[in-house]
Amino acid sequence: MKGLMIIGSAQQNSHTRALGQYLIGQFNTHDCCDLEIFDLAEKPIHTLDFTGVNEVPEAYQQHAKELQEKAREADFFILGTPNYHGTFSGNLKNALDHLTMDDFKMKPVGLVCNSGGIVSSEPLSHLRVVVRTLLGIAVPTQIATHDHDYGKTEDGKRYLKDEEFQLRARLFVDQIVSFVNNAPYDHLK
Ligand SMILES: Cc1cc2nc3c(=O)[nH]c(=O)nc-3n(C[C@H](O)[C@H](O)[C@H](O)COP(=O)(O)O)c2cc1C
Repeated sequence: MKGLMIIGSAQQNSHTRALGQYLIGQFNTHDCCDLEIFDLAEKPIHTLDFTGVNEVPEAYQQHAKELQEKAREADFFILGTPNYHGTFSGNLKNALDHLTMDDFKMKPVGLVCNSGGIVSSEPLSHLRVVVRTLLGIAVPTQIATHDHDYGKTEDGKRYLKDEEFQLRARLFVDQIVSFVNNAPYDHLK
């Protein structure tokens, strides 16, 4: 089974990305599921625009097409976002606006976010509403970290350092794997 993690941070080497890397490692311990990252800071896409007035760079169009193809193929999703002004990022919302119910219908969706100020799960509550609207199944366990939960390697790469969050990440992955394998909502597709 294939999973797609969409990361909505505006910066490369984000904390959210580091969490995604940790999640990939956990999915690799399960034979059934692989997780691929689509990091919008590395593959930016254009703002959704039906006016035809604005010229869209070729690379942005390519990234959007790639996102749509990967989303259609995915068996499950993880949505990862920084906390921006008390909610999830505009970049992530824009990416979701390029997708449809056909991409999400009855697929399990895990939600994770990172805050730099006061740690908050509110961006995830907001995302739950969006996932429901897209007919996805947002799983109950979610992860809301803070910058302090991460370390940096000598070459400047971020990684998830906090052991309690490492444990939570493992439980989070186990739960998604269980949803994917049992597919409790598959008959409703
Ligand atoms: C536009 C913007 C708004 C932000 N708003 C909040 C906020 O409301 N609360 C908070 O705790 N941090 C806020 N931050 C800080 C980010 O959450 C912080 O930089 C975090 O490290 C981002 O995670 P990332 O590295 O995964 O992108 C904001 C940052 C930006 C750029």
